[in-house]
Amino acid sequence: MLIDTYGRVATDLRVSLTDKCNLRCTYCMPEEGLQWLSKTELLSDDEIVRLIRIAVTDLGIREVRFTGGEPLLRPGLVSIVEQCAALEPRPRMSLTTNGIGLKRTAAALKAAGLDRVNVSLDTLRPDVFKTLTRRDRHQDVLDGLAAARDAGLTPVKVNTVLMPGLNDDEAPELLAWAVAHAYELRFIEQMPLDAQHGWKRDGMITAGDILASLRTRFTLTAEGDEERGSAPAERWTVDGGPHRVGVIASVTRPFCGACDRTRLTADGQIRTCLFAREETDLRAALRSTAPDEEIARIWKLAMWGKKAGSGLDDPAFLQPDRPMSAIGG
Ligand code: GTP
Ligand code: 5AD
Ligand code: SF4
Repeated sequence: MLIDTYGRVATDLRVSLTDKCNLRCTYCMPEEGLQWLSKTELLSDDEIVRLIRIAVTDLGIREVRFTGGEPLLRPGLVSIVEQCAALEPRPRMSLTTNGIGLKRTAAALKAAGLDRVNVSLDTLRPDVFKTLTRRDRHQDVLDGLAAARDAGLTPVKVNTVLMPGLNDDEAPELLAWAVAHAYELRFIEQMPLDAQHGWKRDGMITAGDILASLRTRFTLTAEGDEERGSAPAERWTVDGGPHRVGVIASVTRPFCGACDRTRLTADGQIRTCLFAREETDLRAALRSTAPDEEIARIWKLAMWGKKAGSGLDDPAFLQPDRPMSAIGG
């Protein structure tokens, strides 16, 4: 079991499969991209599957989420999913993607055993999409979303970050669109995890702003705490249901007390928190002759050191050195 000194137990593993991405979202990375990890730094498919096997069979992990960068850029993705689906007990598996290329791979991912996907989409306007991501791929994302739903990778969730002056007027329009297409929309407060360190608390769009905007057009009814469990998203039913909308308010309504997560970077480092400033190396042990028990021991020890919260409210808060794209969100 992966337990920390606050009694929280990690049952959810987020695995970053690559730090590379084919978009350049302004709140994430600079136009020129970043210094990518080299082939030797990256874990191999076999190394990733071994770590997931240890996490599932020895450490109590029940949910595995594949992230990036953009995880669809990882050539071995389908095979990794297939191998994880054969583990006992079989973990639930999901993918967080920007949706580009999903049209091509959705059916294969479903057949390999993937349960569901979350797709990032910040706007319904192709021109705003281009400004925001610096790439002209809006239609690819819409096609990817539809393909995921048609392949049964459901519920398909859509992640939206609202930014002042760019897309903050789109919340009701996005919700009407998501309801019509049977996607579950979640708005995410922008977090200080951009490579450029440009995040400012003043002026960011908060959960309060988002809810006020949605309530101009919809009746929202809050879901109970029990239904939320340890999920980052608070949810509301829309106009009496069954459709729901979520808000992930990491900044103004943190949920660290219920956190059930552990993270693995694409180069084999354990992160106990999205905002952690320390990492624990598993790759060296993996590439030595360390048995599974030793790897499990290192992982348990790392989680025992997990901090109480993100530290976002601490006046001395410092952003982690690794940007979001290299952590996996
Ligand atoms: P499901 O609701 O289970 O589908 O997953 P999720 O919302 O946890 O995952 P997703 O990858 O779609 O992430 C949505 C947003 O939540 C992203 O902005 C993540 O960075 C953020 N997020 C995920 N895990 C955590 C966490 O442990 N802490 C914080 N503060 N944010 C998180
Ligand atoms: N703040 C909030 N969300 C972010 N994402 C990427 N960078 C940030 C940030 N700085 C979102 C992506 C994706 C999810 C994994 O996190 O849009 O949907
Ligand atoms: Fe790529 Fe996601 Fe970063 Fe956008 S937010 S550049 S899609 S990793």
